[in-house]
Amino acid sequence: MSIIKNLHVIFALLSITGFIYRGFLKLNNADKLRAKWLKISPHIIDTLLLVSAIYLVIAGQNYPEIFNWVTAKIVALIVYIGFGLYTLRFSKTRGGVLIGFLLAVMTFVYIVGVAVTKQVWPLML
Ligand code: HEM
Repeated sequence: MSIIKNLHVIFALLSITGFIYRGFLKLNNADKLRAKWLKISPHIIDTLLLVSAIYLVIAGQNYPEIFNWVTAKIVALIVYIGFGLYTLRFSKTRGGVLIGFLLAVMTFVYIVGVAVTKQVWPLML
């Protein structure tokens, strides 16, 4: 369990690091963003992040409630992916990229808060 948990955290860190790197590339209009490895690796990392998450949910058997912190993480992960898509693919303006970027990073910070506190609203302890 703890090995998978460590891997899960590593995949999460790789995911946000890669996203920040691609966000900077997009803001600086770099052709590097079109590199093949930058198109493929996020999908591999995010799939591994999700697979490890599903394993942790099943192994932890902590899913009897309908809306607990795990559900919050799933919803927030979808939101993070949405902001990421907007930032890197759909946004055509510099302002749009910046706002999408900030919202994605804030969503990621929220997910880490949920993960560490196991609370849906991490700041209301
Ligand atoms: C960007 C997405 C995610 C990030 C940044 C993230 C981050 C983390 C972190 C930092 C931990 C370690 C918490 C601790 O032990 O202090 C953790 C554990 C865990 N995460 Fe995630 N996670 C993400 C996505 C998900 C998703 C989508 C799910 C559910 C489908 C999930 C389920 C879990 C579970 C079950 C644990 C183990 C909790 C335990 O039993 O201690 N994670 N995650």
